[in-house]
Amino acid sequence: MIREFKQINLADRNSFHVEQEAALLVEFDQAEELPAIFARHRGMPWMVLSGGNNILFTQDYAGMLLTPVSEHIEVLDEGAEEVRLRVDAGLEWDDLVAWAVARDLWGIENLSLIPGKVGAAPVQNIGAYGVEAGDAIERVCYYDVEAEAQRVLERAQCGFGYRESIFKQALKGRVVITAVEFRLSRRPMPRLGYGDVEREVAARGGATLGNIREAICAIRRSKLPDTAVLGNAGSFFKNPVVERAVADRLLAEWPEMPHYPTAEAGRVKLAAGWLIDRAGWKGMRRGAVGVHERQALVLVNHGGATGGEVLAFAHEVAAAVKARFGVEITPEVNVI
Ligand code: EPU
Repeated sequence: MIREFKQINLADRNSFHVEQEAALLVEFDQAEELPAIFARHRGMPWMVLSGGNNILFTQDYAGMLLTPVSEHIEVLDEGAEEVRLRVDAGLEWDDLVAWAVARDLWGIENLSLIPGKVGAAPVQNIGAYGVEAGDAIERVCYYDVEAEAQRVLERAQCGFGYRESIFKQALKGRVVITAVEFRLSRRPMPRLGYGDVEREVAARGGATLGNIREAICAIRRSKLPDTAVLGNAGSFFKNPVVERAVADRLLAEWPEMPHYPTAEAGRVKLAAGWLIDRAGWKGMRRGAVGVHERQALVLVNHGGATGGEVLAFAHEVAAAVKARFGVEITPEVNVI
């Protein structure tokens, strides 16, 4: 089923709730509908607007936004150890996590309550509490707009990294993800090593799937603002990855600075939230835009902010971090 909306206000379709318009928005539920949609609007600029949870519109969009709405979960294979699923791009990510937890399937429980849809998960390889979506993704199904063909990419070809994938690089602007296949485990594999997770899980009686999901939801709710109440796009910045020497210089002055090893030798990941916080910007507000008071990595729209105002404020925050620590922080959010 295809539904078209012309000159549509996007305020309810982006989690920052900025008031911009798109010339056209097309909702579709079948991958097979995409060739006809592109044929009808040939030559028009286009991009995918999924849940709108990781995007900042700073202007109206003169092209076509494509929104997948199909929400089906298909069990492909039920083994004794593992279950394979094919999930449509339009399903709310957290509905998939709830579905898996209810069926005793392990692998994505640490990603509870991440806002957004399944089709967006591989794009920035959503991650939290020591787990990334790419760990459980087996294949990604998409329509290649240039080749005019349905394609499938195996996990090893997806280029998953920290908030990275091929869909943000070589395939950017070329594909519409229509479904994602996952491999989940029947065998318990609790991953509790990040921050407060272990303590919160223990307080609930131990490492069952249900307890882990509850603990993660509680931690997220205590730090991250609800987009229905306060416009935001989760972490606005990526955590910066710096040379070991840079980290050592900062650690000499701030021994308590959070820092994490990375897969790349000689590179260390820092916590942008900590840097912004220590630069004195946590809870800071400029007009309708601000840094969230409980998590400095999140910028919020207190109501009525334009995308341009959010972006200008983000530049100020990044400049303050650069001035204080000499470290560049860059947006994780897609700025349009
Ligand atoms: N910190 C502060 N002040 C702050 C925020 C953080 O001092 O205002 C410190 C914390 O105390 C901690 C460290 O910085 O020592 C890291 O903070 P936290 O564990 O809250 O995680 P994060 O690095 O700020 C990342 C993800 C989040 C994800 C959490 C938990 C990125 C860009 N963000 O945040 O993802 O939920 O880890 O795994 O990697 C998102 O992408 O939208 C998102 C919310």
